[in-house]
Amino acid sequence: MGKTVLVCTNVDCADRGSEQVLDRLHDAVERNDLEVEVRDYLCFSACEKGPNVVVVEDRVWYAGVQPEDVDTIAVEHLMGGEIVEALTRDTDTITKNLIFIVLDAGIMPGTV
Ligand code: FES
Repeated sequence: MGKTVLVCTNVDCADRGSEQVLDRLHDAVERNDLEVEVRDYLCFSACEKGPNVVVVEDRVWYAGVQPEDVDTIAVEHLMGGEIVEALTRDTDTITKNLIFIVLDAGIMPGTV
């Protein structure tokens, strides 16, 4: 099954470089011919922890993602199936649950 990777591009995450993260993810997916859809996302309500990236089907939230982390996410997670634990250190369970409640409710980019 293909995966969906969402990158928040709202103000706080964008200020910290999420547009570059998004660009690099698009590049990595294309370069490696991965069955992954990369999309921007309105806001995960975890703004102070951004740039935030969510791998929807794996229920993984990465916080504080820098452009240079993208290759690690691509190789270890999207290609290797391993969660990049270092990028989950700044996440918390309550916020993570809220993120996935919203996603499970079907609120995806373009629907809000
Ligand atoms: S601005 Fe990115 S989570 Fe809100």
